Amino acid sequence: MNLECIECGKKHDLSTVANTCSCDGLLEISYDLSEVNFSLKDRTAIPPHVWKYRELLPISGVPVSLMEGGTPLYRCKRLEAECGVKELYVKHEGMNPTGSFKDRGMTVGVSRAAELGIKTVACASTGNTSASMAIYAAKAGMKALVLLPSGYVALGKVAQALMHGATVLAVKGNFDDALLLIQRVCSEKGFYLLNSVNPYRLEGQKTIAFETIDQLATHKNANVPDRVIVPVGNAGNISAIYKGFKEFHELDIINKVPMMTGIQASRSAPIVDAFRRGLAQIEPVAEPQTVATAIRIGNPINAPKALRAIRQSNGAAESVTDQEILKAQKDLARLEGIGVEPASATSLAGLRKLIAQGTIDRDETVVCVTTGHLLKDPEAIMKACRPPIEVDANFDALYSTLSELERS
Ligand code: F0G
Repeated sequence: MNLECIECGKKHDLSTVANTCSCDGLLEISYDLSEVNFSLKDRTAIPPHVWKYRELLPISGVPVSLMEGGTPLYRCKRLEAECGVKELYVKHEGMNPTGSFKDRGMTVGVSRAAELGIKTVACASTGNTSASMAIYAAKAGMKALVLLPSGYVALGKVAQALMHGATVLAVKGNFDDALLLIQRVCSEKGFYLLNSVNPYRLEGQKTIAFETIDQLATHKNANVPDRVIVPVGNAGNISAIYKGFKEFHELDIINKVPMMTGIQASRSAPIVDAFRRGLAQIEPVAEPQTVATAIRIGNPINAPKALRAIRQSNGAAESVTDQEILKAQKDLARLEGIGVEPASATSLAGLRKLIAQGTIDRDETVVCVTTGHLLKDPEAIMKACRPPIEVDANFDALYSTLSELERS
């Protein structure tokens, strides 16, 4: 195993807690894959779970685990017909222990912190990272410090971080401000940073790719998807999933890497902008906005890894409006029974847009990743749906309301 800079290739000692190189490049964990012995037959017999793939994970001892991963991959025939695409699957990451994909990364990140003898873990978060870090810190007996952008974090996520015992501070600024602050606090106070700039976190998240391949092998006629569509915020997840596919490709388990396709909210879309303009680096968005607060991020720290994933896999990047996001959220809920928070619905909204533009071929097999559960953001639900109608507790009143509803 190596810890390598993605910009200058410098190898770093594995005992380092730094997340970036002296040249400022992001670090990545790499393996000598010739040492790994994986058999497809054995793998599909074991139920999915993050630690099923431990030969490709950077932890050797007993992990801090809450049985994360093993999320469903749904074939979505009604949405297939509606979007006009050959095969559509949804990998519903909202079915993890805290209701988001972050748990896959946190089980590895907190296990690493435990190996290092860390007492306090910390993060800035739009919500889900904080909820996830809080439960794994609780399980490991560590302290957790969380900085949230004040007023822009969905209720369910704050509630989780509080109940699991994190110290939660609401910073009067956005996520990008909070991330800068927490990075400095970590380096000055020796706290362990668990944002997705931490390469151990991304190792856990790459298991989304492994699981998708193993689950598709059990669906008839399907193995490697042509395209995987991922909501993008701080840009760690799309980079991690790409890394997972690349490792399976290098191990000859799959014969191609899917086209990685990143979707951002239209007023928080620096990666989409850099992709469209062919820029090597993003230009940060100073005041990001979107109803999808999970991805309300203007200066994604993993942008270099994400742009590399999208470009090397011949993928795409697109942005969607709040209206398109909310429509996709409702359609996932009502056509397929998949309840997701707004940020997660960007993958379906992006699929529709890219089909309409002709970027996505109707013959493709597509996997949309939905990253967080519907119940994370109850306030968004109450804004999107008609509230319950009050009725008196008698049959006359009930029937009169029902007939009014039938007429309307
Ligand atoms: N979807 C959801 C539900 C998220 O919570 C996030 C990120 C993303 C997508 C984007 O993933 O950052 O890896 O590109 N949430 C982070 C947080 C920023 O603090 O919870 P990414």
